[in-house]
Amino acid sequence: MSGSEGVTGALVLAAGKGTRMKSDLPKVLLPALDQPVLFYVLRVLEQLGAEGAVNASAVVVGHKGEMVRDYLSEEWPGTVPIWQHQQLGTGHAVQIAKEWWAGFDHLLVLPGDVPLLTEGTLARLVEDHKKEGADCSFISFHAPNPFGYGRVVRSQNGVSIVEEKDASEEQKLLSEVNSGIYIFKVSSLLPHIYRLDNENAQGEYYLPDIIAMMVRDGLIVRAVNSGSEDEFRGINTPRQLSEAVSLIREGIVDTHLAAGVRMLDPSSVWIGPRVTISSDVSVDPFVQIWGRTSIGRGSRIGGFSVLRNMTLGCGAEVVSHAVLSDSVLGDGSKVGPFIVIRDGAEFAEKAQGGKFVEIKKSRIGRGSKVPHLAYMGDATVGEDTNIGAGTITCNYDGVNKNPTVIGDRCFVGSDTMLVAPVTLGDDTTTAAGSVVTQDVPDGALAVGRARQRNIEGWAERKRKTANGGGHQK
Ligand code: UD1
Ligand code: MG
Repeated sequence: MSGSEGVTGALVLAAGKGTRMKSDLPKVLLPALDQPVLFYVLRVLEQLGAEGAVNASAVVVGHKGEMVRDYLSEEWPGTVPIWQHQQLGTGHAVQIAKEWWAGFDHLLVLPGDVPLLTEGTLARLVEDHKKEGADCSFISFHAPNPFGYGRVVRSQNGVSIVEEKDASEEQKLLSEVNSGIYIFKVSSLLPHIYRLDNENAQGEYYLPDIIAMMVRDGLIVRAVNSGSEDEFRGINTPRQLSEAVSLIREGIVDTHLAAGVRMLDPSSVWIGPRVTISSDVSVDPFVQIWGRTSIGRGSRIGGFSVLRNMTLGCGAEVVSHAVLSDSVLGDGSKVGPFIVIRDGAEFAEKAQGGKFVEIKKSRIGRGSKVPHLAYMGDATVGEDTNIGAGTITCNYDGVNKNPTVIGDRCFVGSDTMLVAPVTLGDDTTTAAGSVVTQDVPDGALAVGRARQRNIEGWAERKRKTANGGGHQK
């Protein structure tokens, strides 16, 4: 591989404590919408990986590092955690990871708390760096309020970075600042990274000090202006997190609008970064869509619904006020209002679930309906079956969850209690109010209730007893 191309590693610095968040979670794991802050940076790296611009990624972990490590192994198994047990500064974080990066040609270094960073901006940095054959390129930008950032100081001697706490009053006025995102040629980084010292206001090994050092040694250092200021917003306080979340939300909503998703009131719609929505879908006000939900063409999501990890086919309709998770709605199915669907439930094509219904881990077959006030848990319902109002699968005996199987073309009468495990064959009917404890063969009617008897003259006799009975209150 040539020097201008070469293998590129990306090192994400995420060992810091994030003191100002005042949270028990490490800063990079705080949620920004439904994903941790770190997710956004790793997704950008994943996109760069797909283009071949980055070949490996690692995250430096330290404060509450076990939690970050567990998140990586669950969600980003290809990303290596590297332990920095003592957080002695950003330069130190790069030093302790040397074993990991020393064999690459280029090393990208970026903080873990910049969730607004875009793939395009990082791709341009990598491309510019390689094209120019630079030893180090970093992103600088103009901050209207530069407080807290390292200032980029340009003089006859070249460029250097001075941290807020070390800056003179004059330097503090400079508005060009360091984004904390760098790419180094590894052969130029190696001889410099251990020459950093910690003689500064914070007693830390500052990575940005390497800039002035490389310039002094006559290496090519480029301050690249790329992207908008918002992209480099670090998350240090709950307010900054909420501001970033609101920008991320708007960005996601805009992307879906541009792709042909219609929304009556985009400002009230919340969509997570892992959601996919086809074109020609309409989303009503006050809807939340989270997790790995995917929604097929022509579907409609009614107001006040919350969807998480749902798969909707084409032309599915969620009427309104639905709470749906980890389940599937087939093509042309229709559910709600006021329905809960959860834990691996599945509505086949054109199946329906109606008002005040809960469906858990159950399959509702093609064209079948559960229109009102019902609970189906651990049930399999065949095709073209109607489940009457008030029907309940008594699936839990206090120890086990038991299955209910209902065949095709059945008519389950209103208020039937299906005491599981129990099977209703095809073309069966249950009488309203039945408690069904035994299997019902194909084509049978099950009647499982006390026979009604009418006691004639009851009202008259009751009145007489009350008048002459002598009972007084
Ligand atoms: C850093 C830069 C500053 C830049 C700013 C951009 C330094 C010294 N300063 O300042 O020039 O303008 O970012 O936002 O680098 N971290 C570790 N290990 C450590 C210390 C930090 O992993 O020992 C991680 C943190 O978790 C964080 C990142 O490195 O993700 C940046 O560290 P932080 O202390 O926030 O530096 P800033 O003061 O923001
Ligand atoms: Mg910071």
